[in-house]
Amino acid sequence: MRQSKTALITGITGQDGAYLAEFLLKKGYTVFGTYRRVSSPNFWRILSLGIEDKINYISADLIDTSSLTEAIKVSNPNEVYHLAAQSYVGSSFNQPITSGEFSGLAVVRMLESIRLINPEIKFYQASSSELYGKVKNKSQNESTPFFPQSPYAAAKLYGFWMTKMYREGYKMYAVNGILFNHESPLRGLEFVTRKISNGVARIALGLENNLELGNLNAKRDWGYAPEFVEGMWKMLQQKNPDDYVLSTDETHTVGEFAQTAFSYLDLDWKKFVKSDKKFNRILEVELLKGNSKKAQKDFLRLIFNTGIEEASKKITSWRYKLIIDPLTSILETY
Ligand code: NAP
Ligand code: GDD
Repeated sequence: MRQSKTALITGITGQDGAYLAEFLLKKGYTVFGTYRRVSSPNFWRILSLGIEDKINYISADLIDTSSLTEAIKVSNPNEVYHLAAQSYVGSSFNQPITSGEFSGLAVVRMLESIRLINPEIKFYQASSSELYGKVKNKSQNESTPFFPQSPYAAAKLYGFWMTKMYREGYKMYAVNGILFNHESPLRGLEFVTRKISNGVARIALGLENNLELGNLNAKRDWGYAPEFVEGMWKMLQQKNPDDYVLSTDETHTVGEFAQTAFSYLDLDWKKFVKSDKKFNRILEVELLKGNSKKAQKDFLRLIFNTGIEEASKKITSWRYKLIIDPLTSILETY
């Protein structure tokens, strides 16, 4: 008889994969994680959390159905967290076809393998607030219509609907987490929050003279990744499977984020930040601001374990978590 639960995380080498693995290990799970074979190993996030020896690794690529099927068979999980994807929106315009393969079709490869191997396995799909795209509403919840603005978002839209279809058609426990942006010191350097914190540190150290960004007016609802992975787990522990938005319900411009980051080192951001059109996207998502009432009602309060007032204080400390943490870690490295 099985003593503890087993989870399979695809994309264990990514930001969310690493934090989710750490979280599930603390809960007593046996954790399997898929990684893709590359010429230079990419385990720095797992190493930085000190959990490298606690994970069972399986090599699998999103384009290779048999490798994904084998990962499910070998791990024999209770829960699958499907996080692997081409996650950078900007690159999806240069690589629309592989983005469709990795962020769209791969979801069905996972769902179909689960259906055939063991339809009792619970499935989490990493859906995204990018689905909302060209929004008209001031804030977005589970009922807000989708209007994708990138090949990435179009691929994720397909994954979203297929997950819902497997839930309704095959009665599988398959859910979409519609997650708004979440950041951390483990975020890839190409994403704007880490590009900014890294840029500020390099300027302060005299390694750069300025920081070139794209659209400074885009608004995002930025949360903290280690808190969001708990929400993923909660979505698989509900009585009935359903889709949920996870967000902080606050929005800020990229310029505001940069201003705050520079201000921590007493620097005037306007002297250093240049906006260059070459970083603009072919289509932009101008405003994302979540409305996470449904998750708050069902489980978000439990995550923060504090009641809504404390939770909101914790959330609004985004400046510290998203700027100071990564800034400090960069400054310490030099
Ligand atoms: P990330 O850091 O970019 O991690 C992506 C993971 O997918 C990495 O482990 C990557 O492997 C793996 N991967 C990419 N292509 C692959 C392929 N062909 N075969 C196998 N593995 C592949 O992304 P994240 O921030 O952790 O996000 C996790 C998921 O949530 C993604 O699906 C993302 O689209 C979605 N999401 C993220 C956010 C956010 O704000 N972070 C918000 C909403 C939704 P390598 O390490 O080898 O590249
Ligand atoms: N990356 C980047 N670099 N973005 C910039 C820059 C820049 O130099 N200058 C301005 N931006 C703007 C982008 O145009 C976008 O409006 C915003 O900053 C955030 O960009 P990213 O950090 O690249 O994230 P994203 O919002 O496009 O996508 C992230 O969040 C999604 C959820 O909403 C990714 O994690 C996606 O995988 C995720 O689904």
